Amino acid sequence: MTLPDAQTVTHVKHWTNQLFSFRCTRPESLKFRSGEFVMLGLMEQLDSKTTKQKPLLRAYSIASPAWDDELEFYSIKVQDGPLTSRLQHIQPQDQIILRPKPVGTLVHDALLPEKRIWFFATGTGIAPFASLLRDPQTFQDYDEVILTHTCRKVNELQYGQHLIEDIKSNKLLHELLGMNFHKQLKYYPTTTRDTSRKVGRITDLLRSGEVFYDLSTSKITPDSDRAMICGNLAFNLELKEILEEFGLEEGANSHPRHYVVEKAFLD
Ligand code: A2P
Repeated sequence: MTLPDAQTVTHVKHWTNQLFSFRCTRPESLKFRSGEFVMLGLMEQLDSKTTKQKPLLRAYSIASPAWDDELEFYSIKVQDGPLTSRLQHIQPQDQIILRPKPVGTLVHDALLPEKRIWFFATGTGIAPFASLLRDPQTFQDYDEVILTHTCRKVNELQYGQHLIEDIKSNKLLHELLGMNFHKQLKYYPTTTRDTSRKVGRITDLLRSGEVFYDLSTSKITPDSDRAMICGNLAFNLELKEILEEFGLEEGANSHPRHYVVEKAFLD
């Protein structure tokens, strides 16, 4: 049976017991800007008295770039979560429901370009940046692009590490992103509950100035920096406060400024 708004899963990768990514076909009607999200999910039974079904949908950032023929998503697996307890079992050829109406705040249009852009992510919040980091506009608009990704455990960094390795070694991306992009891109992964090369919350590392020291770079200022934030709610709020302390102002599609925060939350 073909459902309205159904797309076919083409690839699934399990990164840890709690994290997986998948790719699916892209509806022809879906045009989006890198960094936006869509509603996606599965059909579920209306109630126990009927066989009728209704869609169960959640907001998911599109992790693939706007030029990609397929769509990619990165998700947590919540064992008792209404959607992800089932979504984690999808296989290639399965159907998922995807509403082709992209929206979102993490878009280039909401920022006034400057020299440097920071992408601040925790956990699955890296997804919109996986899209933006494969978008040529990111490297055209900014001389320097810094991705920070904070997770509890080292194995939760794998998706991001793989993404960065792929970006740096993929010939097609080299052609698209320009010859200098690997010099423009900096990656700063940190963990908070595992020993790794860098331990600590990015918020603390920004406040202490350690991140600027580690990256041999200058402090964030409104005259040189732009930023996008995507993580859990407490993180988003804390980082917003820090950026405001650095003098940055929040932007929107209708009013581009210095930084933007993701407004969609999963599960
Ligand atoms: P921590 O381990 O110290 O809580 P979660 O899995 O809970 O969404 O967290 C993902 C990562 O974000 C974890 O490394 C976590 O650190 C960090 N984190 C959670 N809340 C905040 C916050 N308010 N500020 C900075 N980092 C945070």
